[in-house]
Amino acid sequence: MMNDRENAFHIVAYCCHYCAYAAADLAGVLRLRYPAEIKIVELPCTGRIDAREILLTLEHGADGVMIAGCLEGDCHFQDGNINARRRIERLKQTLSEIGMDPGRIEMYNLSSAQGNRFAEVATEMTERIIELGPSPFRTMVRIEDAVESNP
Ligand code: FES
Repeated sequence: MMNDRENAFHIVAYCCHYCAYAAADLAGVLRLRYPAEIKIVELPCTGRIDAREILLTLEHGADGVMIAGCLEGDCHFQDGNINARRRIERLKQTLSEIGMDPGRIEMYNLSSAQGNRFAEVATEMTERIIELGPSPFRTMVRIEDAVESNP
């Protein structure tokens, strides 16, 4: 039986320090509301995130993962955000192939001045994930726990 904490949705937002992280901060300063389901993880650049890390995030209980980087052409590490987008597109394909909805991951681009946009995409992502329901990984982990405790 799941408790309220287990029922809550968890969405990890990997945010680039130079843009989305600052935009999330600005959203806070402007008192713009975005869903509490969003848990922000700061990255030096979205180019640092790889498919393995996103899959581990899903495996460890996230129902969705958003990656938010600088606007195209504005990455402080040249093509970090372009490479990240490519990886996300490939990973979406892989998720489809294993029967998981690719909409559970999404890449966004925004500037540090777009506090409004951050609140908007965080809300959009949360609504999408609530619509999709809890991640199938969560059920699998519970089944594995049950098997381990009842060998
Ligand atoms: Fe922001 Fe690369 S520095 S995405």
